[in-house]
Amino acid sequence: MEKYIIKGGTPLVGEVEIGGAKNAALAILAASIMTDETVLIENVPDVRDTNVMMQSMESIGAQIVKLDRHTYKINGSRIHNQVILNEGIKKIRASYYLIGALLGKYRNAEVPLPGGCNLGTRAIDQHIKGFRGLGATVNVRHGSVIAHAENLRGAHIFMDKVSVGATINVIMAAVMAEGRTVIENAAKEPHVVDLANFLNSMGANIKGAGTDVIRINGVPKLHKTEYTIIPDQIEAGTYLMAAAATQGDITVKNVIPKHLECIYAKLSEIGCQVQESDDEVRVVATGKLGNTQVKTLPYPGFPTDMQPQMTVILGMSQGISIVTESIFDNRFKYVDELARMGSDIKVEGNTAIITGVDRYTGAEIAAPDLRAGAALVIGALAAEGESVVTDVRYIQRGYEDFHLKLAKLGGQIELVDVPDENENNYTETSFGKVVS
Ligand code: EPZ
Repeated sequence: MEKYIIKGGTPLVGEVEIGGAKNAALAILAASIMTDETVLIENVPDVRDTNVMMQSMESIGAQIVKLDRHTYKINGSRIHNQVILNEGIKKIRASYYLIGALLGKYRNAEVPLPGGCNLGTRAIDQHIKGFRGLGATVNVRHGSVIAHAENLRGAHIFMDKVSVGATINVIMAAVMAEGRTVIENAAKEPHVVDLANFLNSMGANIKGAGTDVIRINGVPKLHKTEYTIIPDQIEAGTYLMAAAATQGDITVKNVIPKHLECIYAKLSEIGCQVQESDDEVRVVATGKLGNTQVKTLPYPGFPTDMQPQMTVILGMSQGISIVTESIFDNRFKYVDELARMGSDIKVEGNTAIITGVDRYTGAEIAAPDLRAGAALVIGALAAEGESVVTDVRYIQRGYEDFHLKLAKLGGQIELVDVPDENENNYTETSFGKVVS
């Protein structure tokens, strides 16, 4: 079992190169099989979720050639069936993007129901509503979503809830449908825009991505492209939070500062200095930070994926802060772990009432999910003394070289692999280790 051993108390200082956005990559990888021509994708982050996605695509006949750690050539012309049986895919939420991609291209898809981080109820009713609106029949049987259509026809689809996944999935199902599709109340996250830009570079006709009304005129087919995935907003935000938590000075490089505004605005509000330039953002924290109120919202609001990291900082700030989680109904599980480091946080429903403590003290803690895991690591880097963070496989789902990048910034963090007789849940694949 892999663990991080962390000796806290050193301010993190320096520059860190941000990789491609995991959540954009997952959608774009799935969409890459929608043409029979070869697609070249650059800036794919080397994280567990993207590797699982590619392994599943290979299992149905996609040909994937790795040109370097972050660049792939993908060809979907030899896909021989649309039934995903790959076990690993059940563990990632983005498995559902293969439904939209396969349904959009072949009018047929059978994909296991999505897994991913346990953040509470994570329904897919809006995805299903969208597919049905386009004329598909969709059923859930034996743990899989089975979607089929003789014909997909453009339609007017109103999302009852702003959903990143449903917006992306309906875009994919609609790009080669007959006629015009309008998605209202669409998600506006940067990865929705990136997926739309990718599909447009393949010949799709999608307008309005990044606003809440997206219009798609169906095209008969898509063609090859070369595309570079946008930088990861949440990876960058996580390092900015690490600067704030450790009283450090970190510059995130190769980012789109606009995507980070919703994150660094809060850091600035509690007393951090923030500087941005063309493709860099720097956060400097000196002295005790202040308190604030945070509510997670769809983009351009404060992202739910930054909520645990922000809570960790506020747990060491002056006064009382309030954090309200409005996207997921179970995203405060990490608070019990943080309490082991001495935090004083009460959770009532979807609100955390945080009384800032002087500092955390090192403890043995377990990562409950991807972003909360990263947040606990940040807490441990700020804490006095040594911490051990277990279940780091969750963190590895979405952060490439997390401990190496933190160590380069001066963090005293080491990844150790301790044999565990209960652990036999990994298999090696052509893309590395994946959860099976
Ligand atoms: C995406 O999840 C991201 N995952 C999540 O990132 C992120 O937290 C989330 O968007 C919100 O920004 C990927 O992109 C792979 P949603 P997604 O559909 O698409 C409800 C990370 O750490 N809902 O926007 O699953 C849902 O339950 C991960 O990188 C429905 O009710 O999120 C939630 O309350 C974790 N019905 C809300 O909408 C539906 O059909 C937003 O979910 C779909 C969603």
